[in-house]
Amino acid sequence: MCGIVGYAGHRQAVPILLRALKDLEYRGYDSAGIAVLDGDSLSITKRQGKIANLESAINATASGTVGIGHTRWATHGRPSDQNAHPHVSCDERVVVIHNGIVENYAPLREALGARGHVFRSETDTETVAHLLEEEMRAGADLFEALRRTAQRIEGSQAVVAMSLDEPGVLAAARLGNAGGVVIGFGDGEMVVASDLAAVLPITQDVAFLSDGQVARVTPKGAEVRTVSGEPVPLQRKRVPIDPVTALKGQYPHFMLKEIHEQPEALADTIWSLATLEPPALYFDDLGPAADRLPDVDRVILIGMGTSLHAAMLGQRYIEAFARVPASVDNGSEFRYRDPVVDERTLVVSVSQSGETVDVLEAMAVARAAGAVQVTVCNTEGAQTTRVADGTVYTRAGLERGVASTKCFSSAVVALYLFALRLAQAKGRISQSELAAHLGELAQLPRAVADVIANRERYRRVAARLAQAQHALFLGRGLAHPVAMEGALKLKEISYIHAEGYAAGEMKHGPIALIEPAFPTVAIATQHALRAKMVSNIEQIQARGGPVIGVVSEGDEELTALCDEVITVPRVSSWLEPVVSVVPLQLVAYDVAVHRGCDVDQPRNLAKTVTVE
Ligand code: AGP
Repeated sequence: MCGIVGYAGHRQAVPILLRALKDLEYRGYDSAGIAVLDGDSLSITKRQGKIANLESAINATASGTVGIGHTRWATHGRPSDQNAHPHVSCDERVVVIHNGIVENYAPLREALGARGHVFRSETDTETVAHLLEEEMRAGADLFEALRRTAQRIEGSQAVVAMSLDEPGVLAAARLGNAGGVVIGFGDGEMVVASDLAAVLPITQDVAFLSDGQVARVTPKGAEVRTVSGEPVPLQRKRVPIDPVTALKGQYPHFMLKEIHEQPEALADTIWSLATLEPPALYFDDLGPAADRLPDVDRVILIGMGTSLHAAMLGQRYIEAFARVPASVDNGSEFRYRDPVVDERTLVVSVSQSGETVDVLEAMAVARAAGAVQVTVCNTEGAQTTRVADGTVYTRAGLERGVASTKCFSSAVVALYLFALRLAQAKGRISQSELAAHLGELAQLPRAVADVIANRERYRRVAARLAQAQHALFLGRGLAHPVAMEGALKLKEISYIHAEGYAAGEMKHGPIALIEPAFPTVAIATQHALRAKMVSNIEQIQARGGPVIGVVSEGDEELTALCDEVITVPRVSSWLEPVVSVVPLQLVAYDVAVHRGCDVDQPRNLAKTVTVE
């Protein structure tokens, strides 16, 4: 979950690293640090808290054209200056940044201590600095030292190191699925980082390290070997992400910007996978998965958090359109429950980042069982795209807010289209049915734009929710995942306790919570289930609970019944989740701002979760 970046080139490293760390800060913000090398001098600055603290502490004269930087999400050792990365060896000649966990750090630390190493922090990372020092003392250069160290540490992690003995060289390793390592090839300068956000301001010419690879990076290029020493040819590619999407522009927060980008993001997702004239689907990145789709007899969708909620909708679409039995699971549960999976099982992983370790570990289980795998991902070249047989890219553009918004709605439409693609492969959809679905999808970006344009109407709802300590979100059918997503958005950025439930569950327990200070958000846009939602709303109101309804335009009965309403445009019932979720995102945003919360960097969270 930490952000890591290294630079080797011809420009001063400090401003480049600071800028990169700001681009990576969404990955963790417990502390930040920078080390720069200038000939035989090493300068390190690190501070607890956000990058701003580091920036005000850093020595403006710290010069050097090679350096590393880190922004931390604490795992071992509390957030403090002392535990902030980079960490150094005893002789202060080797310096290291790290993302992930050294699982055998305790015995390593004990053994290193017994050999005279002195530890300055409580972190697992520091063991890596001391191990590198030992390997270099034994005659290895930095690259070789990291390769050998990689064989001594256990767990999933990414490391970048540099040494006073080899100024101008960075060594980087990716071990397991704890986090990506991207190498960027600039003009006489190189960058290595945990993700693209830090590389794109310098170059779009990149290569990704795979699990078990170590790189030697200098201003002139990179050499890669496996941990066991075999050379690896680098596969460079030009990533099509526009660096402008990484900027906040006129918006006070990335989250608000990304909510507003949804009409365009949805259009990009839809029209990168389909055309209306003629009605057709284009899944160019399905690779070998495409040929296996006709034989699939079961689908399991996996994801975490918001992506799990998108997967829940994908399950409904796949069962409805392709008529293949489908289930949905958290990656973290799937991995450990010994699931029934074989070569006719299709595992669809959903991950915005493509780096979530719970999802990657679940994919490893699916792979071992011979399943065909498709990943729905927003990040070009991410690890899920390299593990899966095929990819469905969501093309929503870079998402920086920790609270996922545009990537949720884009994943939902990508899954909708993929369900149609599977239905085609299974011979379960006619050309006219496909045309009808695509025609409805074509209306969606406009409908979402209308929802966003009505933002002022939702402010009263936000003001009311901002006073609450707790809130319940209820929905039936396709509105159930929306209820879960609405509750997640509210709790993660405003710290109001919120739960999303299938509305039918309410009377089996949660109804005991209902009282005048406990609001319920009822998503009542699923027309086939509307009458049941009306009953649920009446049951809540009979117990004195206020109800905020999310209702379709023109639904006078529900508008009159609810204490507050959010009206959304009428769209096909399959697509209602997308128009219903957008006002819930906006309301969560306004509540968080009203309560003075840090919207883009909520406490304890990180955008990409690379530890189990
Ligand atoms: C949602 O707002 C959160 N950021 C979180 O639940 C997120 O969706 C989850 O960590 C999964 O991330 P992924 O899509 O990158 O795999």
